[in-house]
Amino acid sequence: MTAEHLPVLLREVVEMLAPVQGGTYIDATVGLGGHSEEILKMIGRNGRLIGIDRDEKALAGTAARLDDDRVTLKQGRFADIEAILGSLGVMAVDGVLFDLGVSMMQLKDLARGFSFRSDDRLDMRMDSGQMFSAWDVVNAYEEKDLIRILKEYGEEYRAPRIVKAIVNYRSRKSIDSCAELADIIFRAVGRRGRIHPATKTFQALRIEVNREIEELRSGLDASMRVMKGGGRLCVISYHSLEDRVVKNFIRDGAKEGRLRPLVKKPVVPDIREMRENPSSRSAKLRGAERI
Ligand SMILES: C[S@@+](CC[C@H](N)C(=O)[O-])C[C@H]1O[C@@H](n2cnc3c(N)ncnc32)[C@H](O)[C@@H]1O
Repeated sequence: MTAEHLPVLLREVVEMLAPVQGGTYIDATVGLGGHSEEILKMIGRNGRLIGIDRDEKALAGTAARLDDDRVTLKQGRFADIEAILGSLGVMAVDGVLFDLGVSMMQLKDLARGFSFRSDDRLDMRMDSGQMFSAWDVVNAYEEKDLIRILKEYGEEYRAPRIVKAIVNYRSRKSIDSCAELADIIFRAVGRRGRIHPATKTFQALRIEVNREIEELRSGLDASMRVMKGGGRLCVISYHSLEDRVVKNFIRDGAKEGRLRPLVKKPVVPDIREMRENPSSRSAKLRGAERI
């Protein structure tokens, strides 16, 4: 793996997914292929891996790393999982992995407008073919909708103050760059501690732009329809909102007799991983077996 993106909870994912020889697996967030590479080591010559990502740039790099006739890479969203399987003539799979959110490669590419350090245009689209970006949310959403998004997706208790500052500013001039927005937020609420005051707002905008919660729900639903009995679902989430969706999905599936949870509590990185890869700190891995 390059230093661009270290796969999170790699050993733990492989243990939980427990890929079998000759099995077919979906890596629904193939990214740079870190987890996929390990899955390929376990599934033998007759195994198959379908790697999906909505970001064509990530797939371009991964195609070289996963150059293997057992691998099929497809651009698409979680909502496309069944259509992708249909187009490949695959009826059912032995496991599905979701490693949610964005990769370091996406975050570090300042031109993609995910980072508040970027002077580039507010963007945050994982799929650059999508028309709607963070610029549209910040400049066109009504005040009440912006407050709702910041509260719900960013758990930002200072949402009303931040949104007031955004609305005041944009009544004079559009908010074009990430750094411009970060500065508006900094001036509205000041800085306390080490975390930049724009962090939660940026998380909320990213979730809204990429419809991450709706996507997660449709991905989880699709995984139920495509997994064989005994197939395994593994999900790594990075914030409490996502983790709650996954936890409730597995709990409801267990109540309805469709899923058997594989762990009671989510698996988290050990101290060493957190030290080596600080972006793993908030990771939580949950899994369940299809009944
Ligand atoms: C954390 S990275 C995955 C990294 C990967 N596991 C690895 O080891 O290289 C998340 C990836 O999922 C993709 N992604 C996020 N949401 C998606 C969605 N709804 N549909 C398809 N891909 C998505 C992102 O574009 C990103 O490349």
